[in-house]
Amino acid sequence: MTRLVVTGGAGFIGSNFVRHAVANTDASVTVLDKLTYAGNLGSIEDLLGDRVRFVRGDIGDAELVDGLVRELDPAEDAIVHFAAESHNDNSLAEPRPFLDTNVVGTYTLIEAARRADVRFHHISTDEVYGDLEFDDPERFTEETPYRPSSPYSSTKAASDLLVLAWVRSFGLRATISNCSNNYGPYQHVEKFIPRQITNVLRGIRPRLYGRGENVRDWIHADDHSAAVLAILDRGRIGETYLIGADGERSNREVVELVLEAMGRPSDAYDLVADRPGHDLRYAIDASKLRDELGWSPRFRDFSAGIRGTIAWYRDHEWWWGPQKAAAEARYAELGR
Ligand code: NAD
Ligand code: DAU
Repeated sequence: MTRLVVTGGAGFIGSNFVRHAVANTDASVTVLDKLTYAGNLGSIEDLLGDRVRFVRGDIGDAELVDGLVRELDPAEDAIVHFAAESHNDNSLAEPRPFLDTNVVGTYTLIEAARRADVRFHHISTDEVYGDLEFDDPERFTEETPYRPSSPYSSTKAASDLLVLAWVRSFGLRATISNCSNNYGPYQHVEKFIPRQITNVLRGIRPRLYGRGENVRDWIHADDHSAAVLAILDRGRIGETYLIGADGERSNREVVELVLEAMGRPSDAYDLVADRPGHDLRYAIDASKLRDELGWSPRFRDFSAGIRGTIAWYRDHEWWWGPQKAAAEARYAELGR
């Protein structure tokens, strides 16, 4: 049986991937997660048992990481690296944890993978490419130059470059994927879509940064997980694959959709102070992933995906309720 070490497996996308791997492969999984404010054991508790083991720890702890990686069989096992400090607003307020986890943590993992000669998949973001103008006909491809804007995206860019250097200099058997904005169940309420849904559920008006014109390219987390499995299965070592589902929407369109789906007037939101350095637009060309690996998204109807996500938050206040006050207190300090 294949074994996977999944870092950040108690976070939003990592937990989705663990669920996906359990349902669609015969792999057993060790989740390594520090359980920062963003980690939640409640996202994977129902999976823990014979096939899924949880280890609480820091990816920067070389001794712990080495021990877990040495349990793996280089012939068939892999490390799938999701763990990160992931929120742009937090990186603008306090960059240091982003350097520790995203850069030094990734370095610690690839050193362990190199020593044990274990396959490594690095999860990254389209934000490493900076942003596009609203009217730019081009989208991001694997050839787009790196031009990160924020402390978060610059540390993710640094981690990608470390992985590429370890591939070239040390023969690390690694792949990288850069994905666009994810949505779906189990996303922390600090992020845009769950923040607005839980605001409406709590009787608070949604908040749009600036004029709400910025564009994000949305993909359901289930489709991200399926793409990562395809790359683990059939991806070429040393290659980067962009993951996206042709889901461009302005933030204003998304908030209007959420409000309408929740039975509120579509203009019942407030405009608030903009994020410093706010990227205008992201857009992914996922042709390489589609053509080489035969992946395509299952969630093609964004409105249906949003309605499903709203239903999940309605039914899972036990999961998000305890996070909400602290997340809003952080936003209050930022005036957003
Ligand atoms: P998240 O913030 O929901 O989860 C991150 C997880 O990592 C948490 O469980 C946290 O406890 C854990 N973690 C943080 N620091 C750690 C450390 N030092 N050691 C061990 N565990 C640690 O993040 P997410 O949104 O699920 O993102 C997961 C990955 O996907 C990240 O690498 C992110 O850059 C990437 N990504 C996210 C998106 C998105 O839209 N959310 C899009 C593209 C790529
Ligand atoms: O593109 C991939 C990236 O997507 C990932 O690498 C990041 O980990 C993930 O957090 C996400 O980054 P964004 O900064 O795009 O996501 P966020 O949810 O913070 O914001 C989405 C958009 O919504 C962005 O333009 C800012 C805006 N926004 C956000 C919040 C929280 C608002 O207008 N109002 C809000 O209250």
